[in-house]
Amino acid sequence: MMILSGTASESVAEDLSKELNVPIINSISKRFPDDELYVRIHDDIKNEEILIVQTTYPDKNIMELFLLQDAAKESGAKKITVVIPYFGYARQDTKFKDGEPISAKAMAQLISLKADKAITVDPHKEHILKFFTIPAFSTSAVNEIASYFKDKEIDMVLAPDKGALNRATKASKIIGCDFDYMEKTRLDGETVEIKPKSLESEGKNVAIIDDIISTGGTMAKSINQLKKQGANKVYVACTHGLFAGEAVKKLKNAGVEEIISTDTIQSEFSKVKIAPCIKKVLTNTNI
Ligand code: R5P
Repeated sequence: MMILSGTASESVAEDLSKELNVPIINSISKRFPDDELYVRIHDDIKNEEILIVQTTYPDKNIMELFLLQDAAKESGAKKITVVIPYFGYARQDTKFKDGEPISAKAMAQLISLKADKAITVDPHKEHILKFFTIPAFSTSAVNEIASYFKDKEIDMVLAPDKGALNRATKASKIIGCDFDYMEKTRLDGETVEIKPKSLESEGKNVAIIDDIISTGGTMAKSINQLKKQGANKVYVACTHGLFAGEAVKKLKNAGVEEIISTDTIQSEFSKVKIAPCIKKVLTNTNI
């Protein structure tokens, strides 16, 4: 087995290479003057099992993944497993309005054309795995995120909406604390409404855990609610830290104690590594 690293996920690929004790393939990825992408595999990978590791965000990284898949096929790889730490477009997992695409399905189908297996981390909804036409699996970073909090004296884990309750419950069990959830309504891509709810958070240290922080609106409103109710330190953690626009500023203005994300998307907040959970799913699915 060998690892082909996309430029969006180099540190995850390096960690996986150490975890699995397999080499990283020599390759280059560069841009032509007109910004088109060029990739090339330098090593002989004929008849090898290849893990291509590439987050599909932002868009330019999707094209890179397609080219890497094609290069691996053309070089005679025996089996291609695509590891997608953050699967972009997963939130458009249905036609919410007439005339819309099912973006997650379009992505999954295209990726499936030149791969034998797909693995991703905390997809927004699990059912998107069925959009792949190859075996597809997911893993969750919740254990690793919860472990990060073990020495932070957390009294309560909070899910910013019911959809995140499962994750919050699991994390609370690992940390050994209470859990609760908020009631969120999304008004549009940038605005959410969080209903005030009594959270018994007076004087408590709270960790809010979600799959994604994008604009930061969900987390900022949740922090506001907690602070109004007298919470002490409020931490926010997510698997996928997109931190779009002024997200970080919003969180800081709301009084966040610390921002934590995994390295599915590399940023200054990537404090939790996801390679160990990817290794587990690789091992459990016999690769
Ligand atoms: C939505 O259901 C997701 O789980 C996240 O809560 C959402 O994507 C966060 O978005 P934002 O940071 O823009 O509020």
